[in-house]
Parts: sequence; structure tokens; C-alpha cells
Amino acid sequence: MTKFIVGVILGVLLVPAAFYVYVSLGLAPVATSAPPMPFERFFAKTALHAVLRREAPKTLSTQASDSVLLAGARVYTKNCSVCHGFPNQPPSRIAKGMFPRPPQLFEPGHRVVNDPVGVTYWKAKHGIRLSGMPGFGSSLKGEDLYAVSLLLANADKLPANVEQSLVPPPAAPPAPAARKGAMAQGKKRK
Ligand code: HEC
Repeated sequence: MTKFIVGVILGVLLVPAAFYVYVSLGLAPVATSAPPMPFERFFAKTALHAVLRREAPKTLSTQASDSVLLAGARVYTKNCSVCHGFPNQPPSRIAKGMFPRPPQLFEPGHRVVNDPVGVTYWKAKHGIRLSGMPGFGSSLKGEDLYAVSLLLANADKLPANVEQSLVPPPAAPPAPAARKGAMAQGKKRK
């Protein structure tokens, strides 16, 4: 019995001690380019799915009119595209540098067209902690969150006019003079 109790106590102490050593020796991944921690994906996905099962609204319809989809496309372009991309466009520099990588939601294979629209709505409203996915519940109206969720739920069958509205905004004009100046200054400082 004493052996058993000592074993339990050691077990309880060893796990946090090993974790402490793992983190303090710099073995835990910190850079966005580092591979995931052991079990990181498992814990993140399991925790998220358990919450979604409980909280995601289940009765939202995926039917949407063109005007709602167009409104969703406007919300998407302003708030989501920098991370989740546009149809037939490469991921942004920001998306390429993140961990986890934001899924490109118009790329076949990464679309969320099979998720219930309530699940996408929940994610857009509350965000996904420690992933870089922001929650928009305090900054976007419920109808905008629903419109953008409907857009993503229908990403594989968007009317042509909606699809055509999903394009990167025109790039800001370059400022060559300012850029040269900054580079020259950088050199001087060296
Ligand atoms: C700053 C970057 C960023 C922005 C902006 C952003 N997201 Fe995300 N989003 C992410 C990341 C990163 C993930 C992946 C999270 C993960 O793997 O757990 C994600 C995941 C998602 C998912 C889940 C995808 C899946 O495959 O399950 C949905 C849906 C989503 N985002 C919708 C949105 C919507 C809608 C908006 C705009 C209102 C938005 N996101 C804005 C970074 C972003």
C-alpha cells in the first residue's frame, strides 16, 4: 500500500516536473514555423469540438439569397480575407507566417461547406483561442456574422456575381522615395 501511495505521489509530481523541464530547456515550440507540440492538435481539436457540440446554434438554415451572399462577401473581404484568402489567389504573407496556418476557405479541400452553418457562425463570433482566429462577436453585428457564415457554407456554389466580388482590394500605390530613404537610413545606422 505504501509503495502504491509513493508511486502515485511520484507520478503526480513527475508529470509537471517533466513538463517544466521540457519548457524551461527551450524544447517546447515557440516559433510559428516550429512543428506542433506533442498532443497539441489533439487537445486543441478535442476541446473545440466539445464546446461546439454544446454551444453552436443548430437551427440556422444554409439557404441564402444573392444579396445576403454579397453582404457576406463584403464582410469577408474586410475582415477575413487577409488570413483566409480569396478564390484562386495565393495565401497572403500574413497567412503564410501564422501557426496554425489559417485554412484558405475558398480552396477545395479547405472549404467549410460540410460544416453546419451554426458551427462557422460560432467560430466567427467567438474565435479560436491560441490560434490567431479572432472572435468578432463584439465588433460585427449578428446579421453580418450570419451572412459571412452563409457565404462560407456556400463557397462551392456561389453565384457568379458573388464570386466575382471576392477579389483582393487594389494595392496601395508604392512610395519609392520614402522607401529609398528608409533603406539609406538603415544602412547608415549599421
Ligand atoms: C488574423 C487571422 C484571421 C482572421 C482575420 C480570421 N481568421 Fe478565421 N482562422 C484563423 C486561423 C489561424 C484559423 C485556424 C484555427 C485552428 O486551426 O484551430 C481560423 C479558422 C477559422 C475557421 C475554421 C475553419 C475550419 O477548417 O474548421 C472558420 C470558419 C473561420 N476561421 C472563419 C473566419 C471568418 C468568418 C473570419 C472573418 C469574419 C475570420 N475567420 C477571420 C485566422 C483568422
